[in-house]
Amino acid sequence: MSAGAARVPDVTTLSLHGTAPASTRTDVLVIGAVALDDGVRAVGPGADVAKAMGRRFVPALSTLGFTGKAGEVAKLPTGGDIRSPLLLVVGLGKAEDAAGDPAHDGALVGTEPLRRAAGVAARTVTNAASMAVALPADDPHAVRAICEGLLLGAYRFDGYRSEPKDDQPTDVVVLTSLHRSKEARAAVDRAGTVAAAVAHARDWVNTPAGDLVPAVFADQIATAVKDVAKTKVDVWDEDRLADERCGGILGVGRGSDSPPRLVHVSYEPRKPVAHLALVGKGITYDSGGLSIKTGAGLMTMKCDMGGAAAVSAAALAIARLGLPVRVSAYAALAENMPSGRATRPGDVLKIRNGTTVEVHNTDAEGRLVLADALVVAAEARPDLVVDVATLTGASMVALGIRTAALFTEDDGLRDALESAARRAGEPLWPLPIPEEMSAKVHSSHVADLRQHNPDATGGAVFAAAFLREFAGDRRWAHLDIAGPAFNTAEPYGYTPRGGTGTAVRALVRLAEDLAAGVTV
Ligand code: BES
Ligand code: MN
Ligand code: ZN
Repeated sequence: MSAGAARVPDVTTLSLHGTAPASTRTDVLVIGAVALDDGVRAVGPGADVAKAMGRRFVPALSTLGFTGKAGEVAKLPTGGDIRSPLLLVVGLGKAEDAAGDPAHDGALVGTEPLRRAAGVAARTVTNAASMAVALPADDPHAVRAICEGLLLGAYRFDGYRSEPKDDQPTDVVVLTSLHRSKEARAAVDRAGTVAAAVAHARDWVNTPAGDLVPAVFADQIATAVKDVAKTKVDVWDEDRLADERCGGILGVGRGSDSPPRLVHVSYEPRKPVAHLALVGKGITYDSGGLSIKTGAGLMTMKCDMGGAAAVSAAALAIARLGLPVRVSAYAALAENMPSGRATRPGDVLKIRNGTTVEVHNTDAEGRLVLADALVVAAEARPDLVVDVATLTGASMVALGIRTAALFTEDDGLRDALESAARRAGEPLWPLPIPEEMSAKVHSSHVADLRQHNPDATGGAVFAAAFLREFAGDRRWAHLDIAGPAFNTAEPYGYTPRGGTGTAVRALVRLAEDLAAGVTV
């Protein structure tokens, strides 16, 4: 295969239809059900289907052990009670947990339960040519969530298999009375653009590190944005990085035979309402360098460019959507390897702004490449800077593997990111940058800053305090996505194993909010 070739989800057509679910001719009909104290209840258009299935419907579900919990699925042959031969019932969770969010007021079911249920359906249905989805889609927010869930759940990374693993429906319709509404159709398009960007980020993360060294990744980012209106790409190679005094990126990349890159994707719409800078950690492989990792630690480290993948894909989606927000995205790409040329613990690196850093642990490499990229980003005088990085194992100790850590001292930016992420369905949680961290960051005996925490406490917050030194006077936030970037556990909802594309949807949502005039 062409390594990491961009691939949109396999669903070839996704469209809205107004037919009644029970009389829709399709291979598989999907409905949703919530868990109530006294049993399961099919909701929205699913209620009519349940009625058409007759009295055996509820007992059949209970025989199958289906209770309506989020993530549950039951497959029922319909025996001709409805037009479709097979009914798939997906759980929407407890009625109160599934309830609507403020974004689509008064709705029976919230957007994230819908997105997840649609994702479960897309992952479950194989060996069927067509599928019709009759989840409650009463407003454009719900339509968008269902479409996103279907497309994200249908994602497969098959490029390295001789044969694709299973067949997926190529004809998918969402049944809704809004099928003629302009807003609902726009929601389908937006979902498609966002899901394609997430798939792009996932493909990059999933591509084996040997096939996605910095120069190759840089080329692929350039190729991805080539035909998108009003975008440009500028790539700094190792010589240019030296001319530009990017000692952090060069120091991390030194040990590798594949030299580092800094990729700048810019999107410049005609009348931007804001200028958003995005900075991504792009360690194409993190061996730890001379402070080498354990065997188990090495296994998943192709994921360490998840931040760079996310910011590049988000910039692509924002440009494709034509949002009036100027974007400057910086992907700091390096491979962290041990060798006779590698940076040693004790070496001192000079970051682009002249700050010197004493290296204590070559496995704390992400903050070094981000330091240079943050300085470059701040020089462009953006209104907001958001960096995204698979930065610390400590963030996973704090928040588990599904929740990103958010660091910022800017209340407005914190609120905006929390709100955008919540509506996008991407869990994140704020952590502080405690006051004493500043002294620790400044505690090197030989250089301006110390790269790595002198003790084993607060690894994620120390890293955030270190990064803060390089954001200058810009409004800045840092997202540590070490947990959610790569799913080593079972797939769930619309989240597959491996690369998840986390942060793409939250960043696009932030730009959509800025475009809609939300003041941050
Ligand atoms: N890339 C890792 C963090 C990571 C760990 C991401 C697990 C995803 C899953 C990072 O470069 C790293 O090695 N961090 C060290 C820092 C330590 C040496 C200060 C860590 O967290 O152990
Ligand atoms: Mn590391
Ligand atoms: Zn790393």
